[in-house]
Amino acid sequence: MRKRLLSLLAAVTLIVSACAVAPPVQPSPEPDPTLVPTFTPLLLPRPVPTAALLVDPKQERHDETPVASTAPTPSATASSQPAHVSDTPAPDADSPKKVNCKKVKCVALTFDDGPSIYTKQILATLKAKDVKATFFMWGKMVSNSPKIAKQVAKEGHEIGNHAWSHRLLNKLGSAEINREITRSADMIYKHTGVKTNLFRPPYGAFNANVTASAQKTGNSMVLWDVDTVDWKTKRTAKTVKSAVNDSKRGSIILVHDVYATTADAVAGIIDGLHDKGFTFVTVSELIGKPSPGEKYFKG
Ligand code: NI
Repeated sequence: MRKRLLSLLAAVTLIVSACAVAPPVQPSPEPDPTLVPTFTPLLLPRPVPTAALLVDPKQERHDETPVASTAPTPSATASSQPAHVSDTPAPDADSPKKVNCKKVKCVALTFDDGPSIYTKQILATLKAKDVKATFFMWGKMVSNSPKIAKQVAKEGHEIGNHAWSHRLLNKLGSAEINREITRSADMIYKHTGVKTNLFRPPYGAFNANVTASAQKTGNSMVLWDVDTVDWKTKRTAKTVKSAVNDSKRGSIILVHDVYATTADAVAGIIDGLHDKGFTFVTVSELIGKPSPGEKYFKG
C-alpha cells in the first residue's frame, strides 16, 4: 500500500515537472537579432555647410583641395604681431582713385581661396582693365605662393583674410578660431606687409564664436550678395552672366581665383558691368571704414 502510494506520488511529480519544463507557448520577447532589420544611414546629399550654418543660402564652393597638406609649424610670429587695427590697409599706393560710391554705381569684385596659379592671369586682366579688386586669401595658400600674394598687394589690390586652412570655423572652439584667423593674418602680413582687417569666414559659415573672434582680432566679416557659383558650374560664360546679371549697386561679387574658367571670366565680368555703368572698387572703398565684428553683405 505504502509502495503504491509512493509510486503514485512519483508519477504525479513527474507530470507536474513535465508541465513545468514544457516549452513556452508564446515566443520569447527577446527579438531574434537575425530578424531585426538593419537601418542603413540615409545617404542624403550633404551640402557643406548646411544651410542652417550659412549666412547665405547660396553656398560657396570648396570641393577642391588646392593645397599641399604639409602643416607648417606654428607661426613664431603668431603672438608677436601687433593687434590688428581697424585702419584700412593701403596696399602699395598705385595712384588710387578716389571713388564716391554715393555718386556712382559701385561694385566690389572679390576673389577667394588664392593665391593660385590662376591669380597671375587675373592680375594681368585687372591691370589691363584698370580695375582694383579684393582677394581673400587663406594663409596656407599664401605660404605656398608668397610671391603671387606679394604681387597682388603690390598692384594695389586689397587683401582680406580667409582663415588659415579653410575649415568650417563654426565647428571649432574659440581658441582654434582665433588661431585660424591670426595665423593667416600673420602669414599675409609676412609676405605682403598688409595688416588685414577684412575677414571672410570659409564657406561663409559663422556663429557667435566666429563673430566674436573676428571682433577680437579687429576684423569685420565680409560676406557677399552675388554668388556666381563659379566653383560649381566651372563655366566661363555662366560665371560672367551671373556676375553681370545679378549685380546691383553696392554688390559684393564672389568668385574664386583657383579656376581657369574663372580667370577667363574676369574680362567679361568687367566689360559687362562697365557697360551697365558700374564702377569697380575694393571692399573697403565700398563699405567705408569697416567696423570689427560687423557683417557686410554689400555696400
Ligand atoms: Ni573659400
